Amino acid sequence: MSRGEPAIPTDFQRTGLLIRRDGQPVQMPFISRALEPAALPAVQGIHREALRRLSEPGLVRADSEAFFADHFTDEGRTLGVFAEDRLIAYAILGLPAGPGYRYDRFAEDLGLPAGDWSRIAQLIGVAVLPAWRGNRLHRRLCEWRLQLASMMDRWHIAAVSAPGNAYSWRNLLAVGLRIKGIKLLGGEHLRYLFYADLRGSSALDSATAVTVEVVAIAEQRNLLAQGYWGYAAVMDRGVLKIRYARPALP
Ligand SMILES: CC(C)(COP(=O)(O)OP(=O)(O)OC[C@H]1O[C@@H](n2cnc3c(N)ncnc32)[C@H](O)[C@@H]1OP(=O)(O)O)[C@@H](O)C(=O)NCCC(=O)NCCS
Repeated sequence: MSRGEPAIPTDFQRTGLLIRRDGQPVQMPFISRALEPAALPAVQGIHREALRRLSEPGLVRADSEAFFADHFTDEGRTLGVFAEDRLIAYAILGLPAGPGYRYDRFAEDLGLPAGDWSRIAQLIGVAVLPAWRGNRLHRRLCEWRLQLASMMDRWHIAAVSAPGNAYSWRNLLAVGLRIKGIKLLGGEHLRYLFYADLRGSSALDSATAVTVEVVAIAEQRNLLAQGYWGYAAVMDRGVLKIRYARPALP
């Protein structure tokens, strides 16, 4: 990490209330904080559980032990959510520090100038234990990671999510990220590429808005190539769609 970069806050903590467990109403407090490397087995346990339950293989990539271990250090921060002292969710903020970063880096896909690469933060891995889904934890974990990124002057925010994983990307859109591209992650996994500039993004021109089915990948690629950005999920007579529009002229 470069000299003079703001330190990663170690005392970052958030609290709240869980209201659903296995679909039933509950009232249970939770605490969220940055995890220490000792949490590695618990994080991997949640990751494995998420992979086991996927509706379709490939929606979430299987990540290595080294990937998780490396994102407890300067190359990232991993937030955890605890209920009754048990880890029930995690979310990783990737902070690519230099040329030695061994994992996906979306700066080039996004066309960011090389001088800004140290200003990028990536939302790169999240899972909630199935019993605790539906508590909007992912959305909150996205918001907290954006707050962390902002504290560290990492204003370029990138993320990827499979078009087939609406449970994930609906939350990315909800916190203000926009679809800027579609890519094959690792050459095989189809992913939306999301971006936000925490310093402020152009407004979109609603007069140009078009709505496209999520499964219409070629049509979406075509719109993205013409400078459209995806910004909202729309459920239209049972069909999931994404609304795209062009940035308004300055
Ligand atoms: C993506 C994920 C973290 C979202 O969890 P979450 O924050 O609990 O989800 P939300 O609170 O936004 O859920 C919204 C609704 O979708 C449901 N839901 C969320 N994830 C679901 C899933 N994987 N399968 C079925 N339903 C799901 C919730 O029960 C809730 O239902 P409701 O509207 O009837 O209340 C979670 O689905 C997950 O862990 N998935 C596996 C890992 C993954 O996909 N990671 C992202 C890519 S790296």
